[in-house]
Amino acid sequence: MRKKGMAVLFAFVMLLQVLVFSPMTAQATTIEEIQDKGTMIIGTSADFPPYEFHARVDGQDKIVGMDIFIAERIAEELGVELQIEDIGFDSLLPALETGSVDMVIAGMSPTEERRQSVDFSDVYYVGGHNLMVRETDAEIYTGIDSLAGKVVGVQSGSLQEALAAQIPDVELMKLTKITDLILALKTNKVEAIVMEKPNAEAYAGNNPDLYTFDGGFELDESEQGSAIAFQKGSDELVEVVNGVLAEIDEQGLQEEYLAQAGEYLNLENQEEGSSISQYGPYFLNGTMNTIFISIVSVFFGSVLGILLALMRLSRNMVFRPLATAYVEFVRGTPMLIQVMFIYFAVGYLVNIPAMLSGIIAVSLNSAAYICEIIRSGLNSVPSGQTEAARSLGMGHRDTMRHIIFPQALKNIWPALGNEFITVIKESSIVSIIGVSELIFQTRVVTSISYRGVLPLFITMIIYFILTFSLTKLLNYYEGKMKYD
Ligand code: ARG
Repeated sequence: MRKKGMAVLFAFVMLLQVLVFSPMTAQATTIEEIQDKGTMIIGTSADFPPYEFHARVDGQDKIVGMDIFIAERIAEELGVELQIEDIGFDSLLPALETGSVDMVIAGMSPTEERRQSVDFSDVYYVGGHNLMVRETDAEIYTGIDSLAGKVVGVQSGSLQEALAAQIPDVELMKLTKITDLILALKTNKVEAIVMEKPNAEAYAGNNPDLYTFDGGFELDESEQGSAIAFQKGSDELVEVVNGVLAEIDEQGLQEEYLAQAGEYLNLENQEEGSSISQYGPYFLNGTMNTIFISIVSVFFGSVLGILLALMRLSRNMVFRPLATAYVEFVRGTPMLIQVMFIYFAVGYLVNIPAMLSGIIAVSLNSAAYICEIIRSGLNSVPSGQTEAARSLGMGHRDTMRHIIFPQALKNIWPALGNEFITVIKESSIVSIIGVSELIFQTRVVTSISYRGVLPLFITMIIYFILTFSLTKLLNYYEGKMKYD
């Protein structure tokens, strides 16, 4: 027993070594690289109107806003296509550092702390910082001091997180998406939100029950405004982008971009109050992606799972501890971390789209569970069965195929079905890296419809329909197997 433990530990340490000694800093992306691949990938957090947000253009979802128009100008200058990755604000800089995105345009302020790890372009817009409260509280909360000791919302990882500390004895609620903060404010979970001024005004303009005003926060001049972030050492790229920004500034295009963004916001506004059914395409797209991710992941998870189970059942002194270490490690760490790890760590080596990273992570995770399902299924067949088959003169392979496996399948099947249902639900975690599955799309609908609870309810029903039909289908086959 002890020997086995040592072998697992050894395999585990080897695995760690590979991870730790693999290159952990990607080379800064050069202009040539961007031009070679023909696309410039920007990372953003599209919850920040009028800088970047989701809008419906001719029934299609599109990310628009001042930052996006600027990005389009830069892509044009480089002669490449623009690709937008919509990730949580607090994951943007990690995505940049690992090379998953080429630059970050997200109304990001060039703070001293961030400058330690990334390079910044010149500042292209200065907004200021506001407080957002419920309209009904407009007379109660009038400034920083009136909020002393209260719960205040901020976007996690944002500059506002630091600014909010200027409120005496404040209790912070940090959320990844600003849309969720707005919901938290409306449902009395927080008393106020610290937000960038243009952003606060955009939300207040669309929500009659919100009120915003200058927060009077103190901030160093050098940390004001928004700039574009690059990997460290991107001098050449920064220079070209600064050229484009200077042009934009000269022509005063920022105001034009903001006006354009405002039109998209008004468009949504006009349609506000109409039925939720118009967001059907979002739910449909999300559902299709969830089904796709689940099917592909369960398929590859099964292939790898079978392989791992065979390794675990073998007597091989290398394969067996390796498979055991894998299973133990995957089961012992949260899938959330695994998804982020695959997305960011793989980003160092090759640049793969978020959807593919998500599928890889979910497959790798599921494989560990499927391995255990298969292994315990095979083990559940009494050893007398093997002995009987062998004494009848059957070979190892025939015994497995005709005697053991058909009996094991009856145990494996329901558990595998459970795993499939789990994957349908848990794959929602990949929304964190911007994969547009059902949960991601639900958040988009929440943000553009300004409705919080109804989209959640609809999504719950969709998940239930998916998993319930799957259960029925699996039960049908399980019933059939009983008669075999
Ligand atoms: N300017 C602030 C910062 O740099 C907030 C930016 C938030 N941006 C976003 N896309 N949500 O921290």
